[in-house]
Amino acid sequence: MRFSDMQTGELSALLAELSDQYAAYRKMGLKLDLSRGKPSTEQLDISSSLLVSDGGKDTYLAENGFDCRNYGVGDGLPEMRRFFAEVYGIPEETVIVGGNSSLNLIYDAFERLMLLGTGDSKPWCKYDKIKFICPVPGYDRHFGILEMLGIEMLPVEMGPEGPDMDEVERLAADPLVKGIICVPKYSNPTGYTVSEATVRRLFSMKAAPDFRIFFDNAYGIHDFTDEPDVLPDLFGIAKECGAEDRILYFTSTSKITFPGGGVSLVASLDPNLSEIKRAMSMETIGFDKLNQLRQLRYLKNAEHTAAVMKRHAAFLKPKFDLCSEKLHSGLDGLGIADWYDPNGGYFISLNVTDGCAGRVWALMKEAGVTMTPAGATYPYHHDPRDRNLRLAPTYSTLDDLSKTLDVLVCCVKLAACEHYLASGNAS
Ligand SMILES: Cc1ncc(COP(=O)(O)O)c(C=O)c1O
Repeated sequence: MRFSDMQTGELSALLAELSDQYAAYRKMGLKLDLSRGKPSTEQLDISSSLLVSDGGKDTYLAENGFDCRNYGVGDGLPEMRRFFAEVYGIPEETVIVGGNSSLNLIYDAFERLMLLGTGDSKPWCKYDKIKFICPVPGYDRHFGILEMLGIEMLPVEMGPEGPDMDEVERLAADPLVKGIICVPKYSNPTGYTVSEATVRRLFSMKAAPDFRIFFDNAYGIHDFTDEPDVLPDLFGIAKECGAEDRILYFTSTSKITFPGGGVSLVASLDPNLSEIKRAMSMETIGFDKLNQLRQLRYLKNAEHTAAVMKRHAAFLKPKFDLCSEKLHSGLDGLGIADWYDPNGGYFISLNVTDGCAGRVWALMKEAGVTMTPAGATYPYHHDPRDRNLRLAPTYSTLDDLSKTLDVLVCCVKLAACEHYLASGNAS
């Protein structure tokens, strides 16, 4: 029965029952963690052979004989650029290979736009106030960068097709709105993928001449079901819409090989592409080409990389299946929670009863389970409905995850019960 249809007496009885269950969980002295959005140790083991080298010429000579132990090749090795283009289905000429982190490249792009601007437009820091559209719930580190740089964040709801485009178009009409940042495939944390219609609207809407779309495609090939989402051809559509100047695209091999020990890329079209190259040539003589070679020798090509991702999926799918099973069996039909079972990525976005996310987080903490703090998925850590929680099931063992989900279901119900009783909304 839905909690909203329960009589006060029924809710009170349920509260007593849930409180007993919760007390039993607390007594167990659990130490669990549902906040770590990173691969498990078993997943890291998949790529360990990457670290092995005989120190011979293969270790340092690029395809064209270039000695990667030395300075040079600022845009990245040609074979690495070709590899990225093939794996992500993007034009090779758009790709610049970076260092070990795409977040670093994203930060760098913001700083460049703030300090130097783009084309004929003035640097963003010369405006009194500029604003950025932020699909929510979203990735806390994106919001952290924007907050630190003093860029006002405008939240827009994410849906199964991407951000609410009516709202995005309305906001983008303001020339002080300089862009949008989104995770186009298996978004962190909703798991949604943008549709072609959304992408077309993003590239054809009216916006400031220096409006930029940051696509952080961190989960571009991270499928774990047999019916993976398909990301529309972002570069192709940008060109068709004559919006070459809007696109900035980022990704990395962080969750393919090693987080923090992979290779990143930024891809774009002119004028951005030349601006990025020019600024980067001042920033570094070149990123770590030996690591590019290591990653490449291991990942080989798109086909082999897909096989590596299947090995990741074999660890990830049972964990996401367990989440789906436990959440459905524990919460279906109660009207107190909703979520989406994604086809890939690293997260599940759980919406609990309005006003209860903070309470669920605190109950979990008291029971020994660490979760990403409530509010973290919103700009300024402010979830106006206090309802969203990010679940990160990848790092835990299945056994720990199972226990964690049992406690979570209990806490979601307990918080909702308290909420309905306190608000006097029971029938
Ligand atoms: C959406 C998103 N972007 C970027 C990153 C970090 O990527 P990198 O390791 O390439 O800096 C993460 C890591 O969790 C992420 O979820």
